[in-house]
Amino acid sequence: MRHNLIGPRGRDKLLSSDLFDYGIGVAGDAPYDRAAVFVRWFLWIFVVDDLVDAGSWEHSDSLEAFARTALAARHAPELAPNTDPTLRVLAEDLWPSTARLDGGAEWLDTFAESVSSWLLAEAKLDGIRRGQRPLRRSEYLEFRRLLSGMDMAWDLLVVMTEFVSPVGDVDKLTRCASDIVSWTNDLCGIERDLSFGEPNLVTLIKDETACSWQEAVDAVHDRYRRSVQEFQAECAVPTDEATAAYRRRLCDAVATAVGWHQSSTRYLQANTGTVDVEQTAPSLFWRQFDRDPYPLYARLRDHFPVVWDESMETWLVSRYEDVRTALTELSSKPYEWQLAPVAGVTMLQLDEPEHLPNRKLVSGAFHGRTLDRWAEATERIVGLLVGRLHGKDQVDLFADFCRELPLRVMLVVFGIPETDLAKWKTWTDAITRYFGNYRQDPELLQAGLRARQAVSEYLDRHIAERRRAPGDDLLSDVCGTVADGERLTDEMIKAFCTVLIAAGTETAYKGLASLVANLLDHPDVAAAVAGDRDLARQVWVESIRKDSPVQLANRYTVEDFELAGTLIPAGATVTCLLGSANRDPSRYPLPERFDIHRGTDAADEVLDAAGPGIAFGAGRHTCLGAQLTHIEARAAMSALLDAMPRMRWADGFRPAHSGRVLRGPRRLLVTTGW
Ligand code: HEM
Repeated sequence: MRHNLIGPRGRDKLLSSDLFDYGIGVAGDAPYDRAAVFVRWFLWIFVVDDLVDAGSWEHSDSLEAFARTALAARHAPELAPNTDPTLRVLAEDLWPSTARLDGGAEWLDTFAESVSSWLLAEAKLDGIRRGQRPLRRSEYLEFRRLLSGMDMAWDLLVVMTEFVSPVGDVDKLTRCASDIVSWTNDLCGIERDLSFGEPNLVTLIKDETACSWQEAVDAVHDRYRRSVQEFQAECAVPTDEATAAYRRRLCDAVATAVGWHQSSTRYLQANTGTVDVEQTAPSLFWRQFDRDPYPLYARLRDHFPVVWDESMETWLVSRYEDVRTALTELSSKPYEWQLAPVAGVTMLQLDEPEHLPNRKLVSGAFHGRTLDRWAEATERIVGLLVGRLHGKDQVDLFADFCRELPLRVMLVVFGIPETDLAKWKTWTDAITRYFGNYRQDPELLQAGLRARQAVSEYLDRHIAERRRAPGDDLLSDVCGTVADGERLTDEMIKAFCTVLIAAGTETAYKGLASLVANLLDHPDVAAAVAGDRDLARQVWVESIRKDSPVQLANRYTVEDFELAGTLIPAGATVTCLLGSANRDPSRYPLPERFDIHRGTDAADEVLDAAGPGIAFGAGRHTCLGAQLTHIEARAAMSALLDAMPRMRWADGFRPAHSGRVLRGPRRLLVTTGW
């Protein structure tokens, strides 16, 4: 169940995270069975908070609806089989075990209210993040207290030991306790919040009073001290033994929470209160990576070339030479969790000596004369797609052209009917989302697994047909392949199909979309390539350098590995930022310029996958489909420029690139000029 809740990566994160210790610390010396319930809630809250931060609810129902279901689950543990695993854990484990704590019905209602207030505060935060509503300082104070989730912790403390709940009024005490934790959190997290654009008391004070950073930080310190004083004064009031015991437990819990926040910060320099955003290494977790990663890449290359990304639990590598080294020398084991669950065992996750023999089973189909087969098919498909645009004044070249071309080509390669295009669109989308699901959004995990099942059932039929009557396609070839004296198993064949179709679709359509954008932004280049089709190669290579469709690839250190003077310990994930390497000015001067004559990398070498470019990777896993992409890009450029020589951006339209893992524009509104 835990595995379903957070996925294998989330599980590793929790097992290795000191948040776990934090939870245990707050539980204090409570008996094991009670502390276990507390820690499970603590981790659940952490997982939900993490999912909200990650924008998971951007893909699914609103968080308010989630909050309603979370509360209803208390009374209705029977859930539909495909229910969100986060809710399933709540219904099947947390609510029932909390009810067994003997806190009484009234206590349980209070606790449920705290859970609800916290979830609604998270929902509000999500709205603030999406820019739906601004937040004022006057609202923030109460809001922060709810968002800290500490009310739930304090409620649980009541039943953490066998003693009866406090008789006296502890509301003021718990309010102060929540404030102490909240302001510590804001002070310690100020630079991270600043970079994320998150609300934080320091920034709110600074913005609303137009004071200096130092004054704003001091003001929050004052507020923190006042809360501590109030807390201490409240603790000093004489009371009965049960309330005194509760107070002692609360004091310990607050001290643990404050200590944890202070020890885990690297944002606020001790004693000085100095704020310096530049000192913060960007985390892949940040949403800015989706919007515009290039300034963040520059910061990484300049100040943190090899750096541990705490939030994502990976080492980020950003300079050209280092990315090449890491791609070439490290293991590609992370594909075991990124891809294998939806594609099976593929060449991407294999290290030598297993990798090369596996790759060789299909590599012949993407080199030499065989490519001519796919070139003819590509010409036909491009003709079909451009024909459909004919006569329209305005078209979206993303949806109407780029999005379809590579998938249709891959279906032809495998001899799969193009009439099944819509199904494969859905499946490849789900598989690539699973692959890029670094935050382990449970919905994307489940959609990926469903797609695998559907692909598997679909291919069963086609494999059986090919075994009976082979055709002139790659599926027939792999069905007939004999390796080590044996025919490939159905599972292996399915893995080849899935990985090749998935690897050759979104990468390529994003690359084509960026190519079209670059041509429209540079009419001189479009005119040059219209007049000399031999330029197509270098136009394509420059486009995928400047706007790399694959922005990153993961590696793994089997043993300690030194990179650019930094020791990366054994057993670590290493994220190679291809998009950054391709904009490293030490290799590509003025890297943001679209310059088809830069000549740094010979275009042929890049496409032969032996050369120095990084867009297709480096080392043994270099892209198998690089030549095929050039065939597609050349055919696309020729057909579009022939058919619509006067095409230009639609009035007022500018393409917006997005995507942290696979990147490109998702709309290309063009006036055709027929
Ligand atoms: C513009 C389009 C494409 C780009 C930018 C691209 C990029 C890449 C990159 C960066 C890698 C290396 C991944 C790593 O080292 O972890 C890779 C590997 C791979 N690509 Fe592509 N790719 C594209 C299109 C295609 C196409 C059309 C195919 C279909 C044949 C394909 C098949 C593969 C395969 C099978 C691998 C794994 C090779 C191995 O592990 O030995 N790619 N691609």
